Amino acid sequence: MPGGQIGPLQTTYDCLIDSYLANKVGLADDFLSPALATHLKENLKKLYAGQQMLPAGIGNNTVLAHDNQIRSDKIYWLDPEHNDKHEDDFFALMDQFVHYLNSTCYTGITGYEFHYALYEQGSFYKKHLDQFRSDKGRAFSMILYLNADWQEHDGGQLCIHHSDHQQTIDPVQGTCVFFKSNELEHEVLVTNAPRMSITGWLKV
Ligand code: OGA
Ligand code: MN
Repeated sequence: MPGGQIGPLQTTYDCLIDSYLANKVGLADDFLSPALATHLKENLKKLYAGQQMLPAGIGNNTVLAHDNQIRSDKIYWLDPEHNDKHEDDFFALMDQFVHYLNSTCYTGITGYEFHYALYEQGSFYKKHLDQFRSDKGRAFSMILYLNADWQEHDGGQLCIHHSDHQQTIDPVQGTCVFFKSNELEHEVLVTNAPRMSITGWLKV
């Protein structure tokens, strides 16, 4: 991708964007620094220990349902009002990425929302699309995994349903996944170990 110099992360952003353009699923290995990933994971673990991670809903706020037959993860939204240094670092990173994406690809992203997600052992999220029928605001989905020592037998892969094949992605720390929210159905396969991530959406 063309673009001016914005620092060492430009290579990572190009990697994510180029793989998205080639395969409909962008993948990059080092979007979050190991230090930031570790801090965010510590936040997540504290929230979980304090029972602040709550069962995720299905659908948007007007029709919020909790159906653990469809998804059984627990979530907590990041928020600038938390005044948490690591969430602020994350938002600064996303601001930089969104600026780069908008200026190289004319995507017109004007905002974003992100939550911590924890899938306890045995949890999953059945096949779905991320864009709500009543709210077209979600343009791109992004998932950043926080699991440092993920093993094959831990399961919990993200399975993306392309028209002619399926793609499975291990939820390994460092991996960032990026795809269009209204286009690709996907699911989280049953996890056999606690599975942590930050998941969110870039909005138009
Ligand atoms: C979601 C989702 C995928 C993942 O939260 O909508 O599809 O790999 N997450 O965590
Ligand atoms: Mn999803």
